[in-house]
Amino acid sequence: MQFFHLLIVFLGLASATLKFKPALNREQNGLNERQSYPYPALTIDMPIDHFPHSSRYTPHVNGTFKQRYFFDSTYYKPGGPVYLYISGETAGTNRFSNLQTGIIQILMQATNGLGVILEDRYYGQSFPFDDSSTDNLRFLTTEQTVADKVYFAQHATFPGITANLTAPGTPWILYNPIQKYGPQDCVASVNAIVTKINSLTDSHNTQAINDLKAIFGLQDLQDIRDFAQTIAWPIGGPFNYPLDTWQELNWYPAYSGNQFFDFCSNVTNIDAPANVTAIDHALAKYTNGEPWPALLLSFLADTILATFWADKTNGPNRSYLYTTCTELGAYQVAPKSGPSLIMNVLQVDYTQEWCTWAFPPGKYNSIPATPDLERFNKYGAFNIQADRLAFIDGSIDPWLDLCYHSTEAPLRITSDLHPEYLITGAGHHWDSYGILNVSAEPLFIQQAHLWEIKTVQKWLKTFPNWKPGYNRKREL
Ligand SMILES: *[C@@H]1O[C@H](CO)[C@@H](O)[C@H](O)[C@H]1NC(C)=O
Ligand SMILES: *[C@@H]1O[C@H](CO)[C@@H](O)[C@H](O)[C@H]1NC(C)=O
Ligand SMILES: *[C@@H]1O[C@H](CO)[C@@H](O)[C@H](O)[C@H]1NC(C)=O
Ligand SMILES: *[C@@H]1O[C@H](CO)[C@@H](O)[C@H](O)[C@H]1NC(C)=O
Ligand SMILES: *[C@@H]1O[C@H](CO)[C@@H](O)[C@H](O)[C@H]1NC(C)=O
Ligand SMILES: *[C@@H]1O[C@H](CO)[C@@H](O)[C@H](O)[C@H]1NC(C)=O
Repeated sequence: MQFFHLLIVFLGLASATLKFKPALNREQNGLNERQSYPYPALTIDMPIDHFPHSSRYTPHVNGTFKQRYFFDSTYYKPGGPVYLYISGETAGTNRFSNLQTGIIQILMQATNGLGVILEDRYYGQSFPFDDSSTDNLRFLTTEQTVADKVYFAQHATFPGITANLTAPGTPWILYNPIQKYGPQDCVASVNAIVTKINSLTDSHNTQAINDLKAIFGLQDLQDIRDFAQTIAWPIGGPFNYPLDTWQELNWYPAYSGNQFFDFCSNVTNIDAPANVTAIDHALAKYTNGEPWPALLLSFLADTILATFWADKTNGPNRSYLYTTCTELGAYQVAPKSGPSLIMNVLQVDYTQEWCTWAFPPGKYNSIPATPDLERFNKYGAFNIQADRLAFIDGSIDPWLDLCYHSTEAPLRITSDLHPEYLITGAGHHWDSYGILNVSAEPLFIQQAHLWEIKTVQKWLKTFPNWKPGYNRKREL
């Protein structure tokens, strides 16, 4: 699950004049030779605990862990900024396209910048501990993760570049990637099936429910919510799904996962084979003879079991669930009323049960009964604001309502210091992809990229006047 607002934050903080030692880099004539792929992994010794005086993290530890990063200096020239791309809930190696062809490449090229991907703590190979017990996960918090970026900007080194590129001497620009409008015939069909399934489960007709499960080969799933979650995979969750969904669609074919449209194409296929449409009638006896058009929606079977979540092995699913359970929330539930793409048994208690299974109380740390959203929202929530903090979202990103441009947020007017941009018709991550030629991009993506370039260029012109940022509450 992707979970980051598209936002650009400046970490280059205090006012300072540009001071560069002569760079021993290959930037003399235009572009450098593109760096070898994949980029070599470097590591920084990152303090596990940035808050040694906070009671939240007792017992404290003094140690560091190896946090991975990858950089590209192809376009770098002395005086250029550093672009920091946060790897988020996946390994840094899965984000290389941002340096090669995506938004970081676009900005580096426009401003002679250097691009770096920093893997987040508890993801990829940047785990502070050998396992992810509840106790060992206590340093996985938003504030620790934010502090990593500040520390990194102040201490990062780039082999082959002799200049001191740390903040505040060099401008650091941090980019953060996140994430409705499907084919309406498909949406309506799924809504209709979900309504029928809900009435079946609400009736507690055991035979009917078993017949339903059997159609999907899911008769072994005891908990109806596991069934509901599994058949919702093409819709995307909640939480886990092995298929490409709406979130994985992209404006450029090579970057797009189109299974959602295949799924909808199947659901709305007016020439479906007889053996498939026959299934539409299998449950008609439970609905006064009315068939269940396009019942055969999804076919994969899996069970989310307590044992799956009890496994303390380090991994992104577990780290992401921990953050979900402790600070982020964003549980995906069926609406209280109206049409739904998922069954109404999918409510908060379902995801919360996974939290309970996965993170039993440790000796030092236990998870809250429900996510402590204040830990996440204290930065301002929909009203978050800081100088040179830009917000760029996509209007059809499934995560839009958790973002700055949420339909629940007030309307804002953009300014150079507090810029914002909502890309019409764009989905999840759409501005982070590029094709090494902005002029050849689809119009609305192209305009967003040109806006991002202009925004950063305007900021860079005023670098000597930058003041410490909003989140810089303590010295590191
Ligand atoms: C960490 O190091 C400081 C300074 O060396 C020391 O005072 C403190 O007791 C250490 N804390 C732990 C938990 O080891
Ligand atoms: C790099 O510059 C920062 C100030 O921006 C300074 O604190 C730090 O000591 C410098 N590092 C080196 C190795 O010169
Ligand atoms: C994360 O969970 C999904 C199933 O929900 C599984 O398919 C995937 O392999 C898991 N990833 C890792 C790295 O464990
Ligand atoms: C149904 O989906 C599969 C992929 O899951 C795809 O190959 C196939 O073309 C789809 N069928 C129709 C009629 O769209
Ligand atoms: C329908 O028949 C086709 C061809 O015999 C077969 O490949 C397919 O698996 C069948 N589908 C179902 C749902 O039985
Ligand atoms: C970029 O795309 C434009 C518009 O399609 C095209 O005219 C131009 O030749 C392309 N430039 C490069 C360097 O490929």
